[in-house]
Amino acid sequence: MTVQMSSDTETAPTSASNDDGGVTIQLDGKTAQVPLRDGETILEAARRAGMTPPFSCEAGNCGTCMAKLTSGTATMRVNDALDDDEVEEGYVLTCQGTPDGPVVVDYDC
Ligand code: FES
Repeated sequence: MTVQMSSDTETAPTSASNDDGGVTIQLDGKTAQVPLRDGETILEAARRAGMTPPFSCEAGNCGTCMAKLTSGTATMRVNDALDDDEVEEGYVLTCQGTPDGPVVVDYDC
């Protein structure tokens, strides 16, 4: 592997300090963070973080897994539980929502 250094570059595209851009989960007053994984739902990320988020159907029907995105966006595969107003307010079905990028998810809202 070759590493190239350029003296012309004023701002390097590296961002080691920006590695905190994963999935941040707030649940029962605790906060955990895990790196993003392609295709992983927020619910799966929360479990991987060692948390015990609420869920039931895991099919997008019941709304038990609902949480609020306080930062970032996610795409829901199925949404048969939330109405448009709730989605606009940032609520997401975490069993169906895959982060589009770094997100902060609050189950306590
Ligand atoms: S667990 Fe039922 S909608 Fe997510």
